[in-house]
Amino acid sequence: MTMHKKKLVAGNWKMNGTLAANEALVKALVGGLDSPACDVAVCVPAPYLSQVQSLAKDSAIALGAQDVSAHASGAFTGEQSAGMLQEFGVRYAIVGHSERRQYHGESDEAVSAKAAMALRHGITPIVCVGETLQQREAGQTDEVVKRQLAAVIHDNGHCISEIVVAYEPVWAIGTGKTATPEQAQAVHHLLRAQLHHAAGDHAAGIRILYGGSMNAANAAQLLAQPDIDGGLIGGASLKAPDFLQIIAAANQAMSAPRA
Ligand code: 13P
Repeated sequence: MTMHKKKLVAGNWKMNGTLAANEALVKALVGGLDSPACDVAVCVPAPYLSQVQSLAKDSAIALGAQDVSAHASGAFTGEQSAGMLQEFGVRYAIVGHSERRQYHGESDEAVSAKAAMALRHGITPIVCVGETLQQREAGQTDEVVKRQLAAVIHDNGHCISEIVVAYEPVWAIGTGKTATPEQAQAVHHLLRAQLHHAAGDHAAGIRILYGGSMNAANAAQLLAQPDIDGGLIGGASLKAPDFLQIIAAANQAMSAPRA
């Protein structure tokens, strides 16, 4: 029996929330979490960091941001630096989400620079990779995700074991179409091999999350896969009972016997 890695269930609220809704959601999560075996985080819109920091204080819920600037400070209107996020107790920052790559033209190099800046401030970057439907149908999935991850490894090789990776097939995001556990596992296995090539045995501890229409009904099957170390959850993270059920599935997967 091999050791189970501590799974991570992270919610990505995207551009959703109000002061009132956040309060209800985080209170319900705090009330429903009873010392989970897995790690739990919520990645919230920047204006709500302070609110959620105080709502989640002394709970098992870690705070995350949805992006971070590649720059330390200065004339970058609209951006938030890693130093600023650190002041609000941010532990994780999503970088390279497909919505940022698609709508904000973020290149692999920009994503890599963001990951480096987060790491420099003790914030764990959750590096997102994933192919579009067109790329999958053209048989380019492996090549695309490997290229996206290679850029981050190239610039952050010395501390690559500190990152979290999230495989998020673009065609599965917000569509209700989930990758099958086998499809996801195949890509996770590939990413694990790439990380192992770069970091040797240290790679074994790197968590690779799955994201894309993960929900209370399909989480257990996905999280049972050997290389799926947690989830990055969009829509279902906005509903406390659903998010709690996914966390319960992660806890369960960690206690299941493994061959
Ligand atoms: P959904 O869970 O809403 O498909 O979103 C996934 C995602 O993009 C998380 O970052």
